[in-house]
Amino acid sequence: MANFPELKGKVALITGAGRRKGLGEAMAIRLAAEGCKVIITDIAHAKGDEIPASAIGLQSEMDAVAADIRATGGECFALALDVLEEAQVKAIVDATIKRFGGLDILVNNAGIGYLMKPITELSITEWDAVLGVNLRGAFLCTKYAADHMIKQGRGGRIVNIASQAAKSGFPFAAAYCASKHGLVGLTRVSAIEFGKHGITANAICPNHVTTGLGAWQNEYFSEALGLTMEQYMNAMKSRIPVGRPGLPNDTAAACAWLCSDQATYVNGESMNVSGGEEYH
Ligand SMILES: NC(=O)c1ccc[n+]([C@@H]2O[C@H](COP(=O)([O-])OP(=O)(O)OC[C@H]3O[C@@H](n4cnc5c(N)ncnc54)[C@H](O)[C@@H]3O)[C@@H](O)[C@H]2O)c1
Repeated sequence: MANFPELKGKVALITGAGRRKGLGEAMAIRLAAEGCKVIITDIAHAKGDEIPASAIGLQSEMDAVAADIRATGGECFALALDVLEEAQVKAIVDATIKRFGGLDILVNNAGIGYLMKPITELSITEWDAVLGVNLRGAFLCTKYAADHMIKQGRGGRIVNIASQAAKSGFPFAAAYCASKHGLVGLTRVSAIEFGKHGITANAICPNHVTTGLGAWQNEYFSEALGLTMEQYMNAMKSRIPVGRPGLPNDTAAACAWLCSDQATYVNGESMNVSGGEEYH
């Protein structure tokens, strides 16, 4: 589906996009279908107790996502990137520019949404891990990508994948909510600082999507609330005016539109993609 011809040939870098059924994968597929040259990145290896192999996109999975996109005619490459590591972020931005001659779109999608506990039980290590990936990582990628976009002088797009948890509080999700509220702040400052260069910065705030991370959250919250999975999912659906949880393609469509020329004057927004569940 190519709706925005102006995106053809644009170079898009997406973080945390190496997992099947993830929002990053869906955005990579969509931007590639729009004709973008897409670089998908992901941490690709487990890192301590806070970033276990079961919760991340490993190199093999990321390579498979990229291969699928290429098989449908898209231009896509996969590179390992731990967004916590400043030297890696800088190297990936440099490598992207060297390989593709520029960088037009950054999607800050990497996120940890599984270290959930009551505040009184959350360790500082867990807090730091969530704030690190969700906020420090987005800051580092924004810093190096925007610096290049400003120098190259052809505008650009920054899309931050925040969350409904950037607008509302959820129990046991202090670090996640704080990080996503913080990402909205980073988005607003990015919009102000980069707008004069033709670079817009916006956040997307999806509600629940049953990705790998979303499936983990379903298990956790249904158990915490003493509900069966069916009861939990039915309660969720009943809260959402359109009657279903989000799909990866809902976020991907919003992302493509924000990257298009249709959204040139949309800057500093935190756009709900939630079927009407979140509206402020
Ligand atoms: N699924 C939902 O319900 C939902 C709702 C709102 C927002 N989000 C946000 O969407 C984004 C994508 O999540 P998803 O649901 O597609 O889950 P996902 O698990 O598919 O994606 C998260 C990705 O982040 C990567 N990651 C973790 N630590 C990293 C690091 N240090 N460096 C680089 N990558 C790292 C993981 O490997 C994984 O691929 C996240 O920011 C999440 O908070 C998800």
